[in-house]
Amino acid sequence: MTTLTIRRPDDWHLHLRDGQMLESVLPQSSEHFGRAIIMPNLVPPVVTTKLAASYRDRILAALPEGHDFTPLMTLYLTETTDPDDVEAGFRDGLITAVKLYPAGATTNSQSGVRDLKKVRPVLERMAKIGMPLCMHGEVTSPDVDIFDREAVFIETVLGPLRESLPELRIVLEHVTTADGVDYVQSQDKNIGATITTHHLMINRNAILVGGIKPHYYCLPVAKREKHRLALRKAATSGDARFFLGTDSAPHTDPLKESACGCAGVFCAPNTMACLATVFEQDGALDKLEAFASLNGPAYYGLQPNDATLKLTRQDEPVTFPGKIQVGEDEVTVFDPMIPIHWTVEVSP
Ligand code: NCD
Ligand code: ZN
Repeated sequence: MTTLTIRRPDDWHLHLRDGQMLESVLPQSSEHFGRAIIMPNLVPPVVTTKLAASYRDRILAALPEGHDFTPLMTLYLTETTDPDDVEAGFRDGLITAVKLYPAGATTNSQSGVRDLKKVRPVLERMAKIGMPLCMHGEVTSPDVDIFDREAVFIETVLGPLRESLPELRIVLEHVTTADGVDYVQSQDKNIGATITTHHLMINRNAILVGGIKPHYYCLPVAKREKHRLALRKAATSGDARFFLGTDSAPHTDPLKESACGCAGVFCAPNTMACLATVFEQDGALDKLEAFASLNGPAYYGLQPNDATLKLTRQDEPVTFPGKIQVGEDEVTVFDPMIPIHWTVEVSP
């Protein structure tokens, strides 16, 4: 197959930041993607519908002419979130989902949740109105090995929560382990999971072999090869519970290339070309549309996009800019470390 036309994809987990960074990175997503779930971990975080409304306005103001892109806003869950504000935002159509960060789990998560009991009234309200909860699925206790954080989260937090509130619609975000895949596949309703492009392409060797490679460091951290293979199998299977969330998370190079570098991989610019390569390698190009364009809207109760995206296989490898400029600084683009042969065009 040398060309493939799919419905325009959506990104169900995206960091756009704010200000100068927002202006520089937004076009990289809005060119190919019709919609994206926008992460609320700004500094300070987006904790109320009022803050989300003004953040949405800033995103729309930064959108290049001719790009058709809808930001789907989320609220950052804290132990003082007001269930009435959440419900009002959801009913107005302003807020699509609530995001749970366990406190201290990742970049800008200091105001996250320490004790799930404190947010129980919000979760109960969300279950009642059918509003999805996006979960960063990692525990943060210092005695849990960082490579086990996801599996322990599923066992000690997610499992019990779903038993006590089965009607709550959950998105287990950026799954990185076979444990995550198995758990999601063992559940028959109210659960979906996003998978990033980079977790389909790299394992933890990318970060640690031949010198430390900060641009491959993100959270959840990439795991060993058997986990990457389990993610590949889930993503390319067509299983409606799995869909694309790039977790494209830009940080400027000085912040990544540091003695205490930030977590985050910036994969927005070449995500669709990389995914075409992954699905081609696995003989599953016919499942790319389900993963990138159909399963996500179906889980969120939305229609797929009308426009289409055309992917074309080139004989010669395609090159991408290694970095994009952000003001005086640069942000490094995800390097998949294998040749990519696909170009991507949006058609009306
Ligand atoms: C994200 C960021 O930089 O905001 N980083 C990351 O490694 N994915 C936060 C997150 O989604 O965990
Ligand atoms: Zn993220």
